Amino acid sequence: MNLPLKTLILFFTGCCCVVGEENITNRYFPETFQFGLASAAYQVEGGWNEDGKGENIWDRFLHEQPNRTTDGKNGDVACDSYHKWKEDVELLKEFGVSVYRFSISWARILPDGSANRINQPGVDYYLNLLKELKANNIEPLVTLYHWDLPQHLSELGGWLNPQIADYFGEYARVAFSLFGDYVKRWATVNEPKSTCLLGYGNTMDAPGLVLIGDGIYQCAKIQLLAHAKAYHIYDKEFRPTQKGKISLVLDTPWNEPISDSANDKEAAEREMQFGFGWFANPVYLGDWPDVMKERINNRSSQEGIGFSRLPELSQEEIDYINGTFDYFGLNIYTALLVGYIPDDDISVPNYWLDKGNTLSSDPSWPASSTDWLHYAPFAMRKLVNYINDLYKPGEIFITENGWCDEELIEDPDRIRYHKGYLSSLLDAILIDKVNVVGYTAWSLLDNFEWTSGYTQRLGLIYVDHDSPNRTRTWKSSGLYYKKVVETRCLVDTCIDEI
Ligand SMILES: *[C@@H]1O[C@H](CO)[C@@H](O)[C@H](O)[C@H]1NC(C)=O
Ligand SMILES: *[C@@H]1O[C@H](CO)[C@@H](O)[C@H](O)[C@H]1NC(C)=O
Ligand SMILES: *[C@@H]1O[C@H](CO)[C@@H](O)[C@H](O)[C@H]1NC(C)=O
Ligand SMILES: *[C@@H]1O[C@H](CO)[C@@H](O)[C@H](O)[C@H]1NC(C)=O
Ligand SMILES: *[C@@H]1O[C@H](CO)[C@@H](O)[C@H](O)[C@H]1NC(C)=O
Repeated sequence: MNLPLKTLILFFTGCCCVVGEENITNRYFPETFQFGLASAAYQVEGGWNEDGKGENIWDRFLHEQPNRTTDGKNGDVACDSYHKWKEDVELLKEFGVSVYRFSISWARILPDGSANRINQPGVDYYLNLLKELKANNIEPLVTLYHWDLPQHLSELGGWLNPQIADYFGEYARVAFSLFGDYVKRWATVNEPKSTCLLGYGNTMDAPGLVLIGDGIYQCAKIQLLAHAKAYHIYDKEFRPTQKGKISLVLDTPWNEPISDSANDKEAAEREMQFGFGWFANPVYLGDWPDVMKERINNRSSQEGIGFSRLPELSQEEIDYINGTFDYFGLNIYTALLVGYIPDDDISVPNYWLDKGNTLSSDPSWPASSTDWLHYAPFAMRKLVNYINDLYKPGEIFITENGWCDEELIEDPDRIRYHKGYLSSLLDAILIDKVNVVGYTAWSLLDNFEWTSGYTQRLGLIYVDHDSPNRTRTWKSSGLYYKKVVETRCLVDTCIDEI
């Protein structure tokens, strides 16, 4: 998921891009393009303390203060996928998809995070899931870290302790050796920007620390080193036999300048650098973005700090992180309008001040039920082109894209969303020749939506969270997506390539 708009200054001056259904393409998706669905362990599994699973930071965060979620609920049971995984695979099979993205709960297989104690029932859970997927010809795309750090490691400092990168490497090695025969596409960390900004920058996410001027930058460096460690372990020890691909998953809205002024254009590009290049540059180009280095260093010294709050990457670290990708994993949901503000406020060390800019949404972009997400399908085509041109990743995989509402079964806005974004994506593939190879819609099920609890729905399958059975029911969007997967076409009739 993405960042809330709550800290943003809202104003509006112009209209950036037309949205509507008028331009849905009637061409086919390539035969090789993979359609799928996505989920994450804490959001669907439940079984939080079953069969030897260790406590993680989300268990602790929400047991300690239930009011941290809108509805006071947590992921103790979630969609009960810990027990209902066969039913989940059955649904995937009915969708006809060829790929399922899910994450491994670190503490389910290594209860205190350390590789010295492996929890066999946890391992069996994932082996069973992987075997069931294989039996149904569905490839797994497995995320190692989707926000659920083992609590023990959080007590060691979590993503502020450089040694967590070593623990992560050991965990990754265990996962590669136990599951790697089944997995051809791995993702190391999911949305490190979100975990750092929301977990260490405000009280939104576990562990709930507020270190918005410095801790978030340390968190970023340590997650990048953790990712790189896992990549190198895979590359050296497992790739020769397992022959899979590995990368990380990054997220950003498309940032559109609010006007044609040079200042607003500069602001929009700076927004990309601070919100995306922050993680993408070290992995795909080799170092923090220059604009981050300059601004944070400059502001730190004006604040009277004798070094930059953005920790330097040494040449050795740069070399270690640079190039640690086999593809680009992208979560894309929406767009923002970015405006320039003079940045003379050095009152407090703070990421949002380091970055500057005003962020807002164009009123012509239809709103979802959550403030950060608007329907802005052009964002897809623009962003994959931006990534392709700047980072040259070779191959892009859309690991998340989805719509948030409070509807139950009839969800026409979600149909409009996937249709519009997939159309925009197909234009990027067929017209701009961007090599996007797959798409896992977020999400298979209405699941636990972090601090929104169960009040916000993003699933293509409805889940009745009040029933002990966590009954699953097809939504109209699920049926639409099933048809898209089957026909590789977004509208009633597609034409052969012209
Ligand atoms: C639809 O196509 C027209 C003409 O190419 C273009 O001006 C408009 O921005 C497009 N709308 C969307 C939603 O892409
Ligand atoms: C949430 O609960 C904690 C105690 O569990 C309490 O200290 C805090 O004030 C509560 N916050 C709100 C916003 O109700
Ligand atoms: C990162 O690696 C690429 C490819 O090897 C190289 O061209 C580039 O200079 C490296 N970046 C840095 C900052 O070292
Ligand atoms: C550094 O700060 C000074 C004083 O505000 C400013 O004049 C200068 O342009 C800044 N440099 C950069 C690279 O941001
Ligand atoms: C439980 O839910 C599944 C769908 O998720 C449904 O097929 C089944 O009939 C339900 N069982 C009961 C006892 O309600």
